[in-house]
Amino acid sequence: MAKLTIRDLNVRGKRVFLRVDYNVPLVEKDGQMVITDDTRIRETLPTLRFLIEQGGRLILTAHLGRPKGQRESSMSLRPVAGRLADLLGCPVNFADDCVGEKVESLAGELPPGGVLLLENVRYHQAEEKNDPAFAGQLARLADVYVNDAFGAAHRAHASTEGVARIVAARGGQCAAGLLMERELKFLGDELENPARPFVVILGGAKVSDKIKVIDRLLEKADTILIGGAMAYTFRLAHGEKVGKSLVEPDHTGTALAAEEKAKKLGVNFQLPTDTVIATPVDTGKVNKKGRPVFEFVDVRTTKTGIPDDAEGFSIGEETAANYARIIHGAKTILWNGPMGMFEDARFAPGTNAVAQAVAEATQKNGAKSIIGGGDSVKAINNINLGDQVTFMSTGGGASLEFLEGAVLPGVAALSDK
Ligand code: 3PG
Repeated sequence: MAKLTIRDLNVRGKRVFLRVDYNVPLVEKDGQMVITDDTRIRETLPTLRFLIEQGGRLILTAHLGRPKGQRESSMSLRPVAGRLADLLGCPVNFADDCVGEKVESLAGELPPGGVLLLENVRYHQAEEKNDPAFAGQLARLADVYVNDAFGAAHRAHASTEGVARIVAARGGQCAAGLLMERELKFLGDELENPARPFVVILGGAKVSDKIKVIDRLLEKADTILIGGAMAYTFRLAHGEKVGKSLVEPDHTGTALAAEEKAKKLGVNFQLPTDTVIATPVDTGKVNKKGRPVFEFVDVRTTKTGIPDDAEGFSIGEETAANYARIIHGAKTILWNGPMGMFEDARFAPGTNAVAQAVAEATQKNGAKSIIGGGDSVKAINNINLGDQVTFMSTGGGASLEFLEGAVLPGVAALSDK
């Protein structure tokens, strides 16, 4: 069912409680937390500008990290307020909590077009519990509820779900922001009746993480290209040697069933034909989590099984060329999950070749390319091709669940048109 969007609202003079996903990466520099990627902030600007122009009084709520109910200073949203003010070109007030009298009076004092960002909503444990009393406190700040936090829409938390239910119950409107609307359009509507050929590229570490998506997309895709460590579980299922590669022996049956279903539905289901491998060597050191640190030596490509002393890290050149050829012929492309450990330059060429092919198919052949969030977005940005694809999701877990066909609580809570 289509959901109300901010275009359907009259927000003039009203307090708009706007849930955004400002869960941005931060690093500590000279005692200050610095934002290293502000994509999620930038992506909300159209919604903010629209609501400001309409004379709404904006009260922004977000989470940052997982502070588990503690006031963890490294997870404060204060640096986000500064960056948002720079990007918007107007002042952004910051409240050092998200509920209570002080916050209510700051919200009450906001002029039409004014913006107030509230402190990390997860400083309160009640947020993740979707506690009705806490949701009620948040709802005291809202005449209208808007959700632009697609990346958090798979969470049934107080700020993503509970507060919307309360606003709706008292007759208020709950609408999608423009980013939420775009995410639902590209990850949802556009993939319902895709222009063909529809090519799906799936990578990542585990078959078990992606099996629901594979299962659903087998019903829609013409071709599915598999990469990442997930491919080694398929190899194991075929009785091939996988060496020390990351595999899920419990999921070989799942892998075979997916291939069987593909055959039945006439889907071209492709596995890598060559693999970039290396030999892991224990350095004797441990990382921050106390886990052993390995070096990977003797990087080479194999077209047969992976030797006992080696581990697979990416698709090989032959696979990359084959996948690129198929991608060039696509009219709709969905990509979720890198083809290997692209963070290490030695294992990046396979993922980069796929990213390049997706960008070329979009720019030269007019294909619609949709990047389903998380690491595939990082991989595309890594080689500066972000502006060459049709759409990049801002979600991680939310994109995956949505592609699996799940109803996201944060979307379900919005008013129907
Ligand atoms: C994300 O980064 O994927 C979202 O902000 C959700 O964060 P969470 O996994 O901590 O709920």
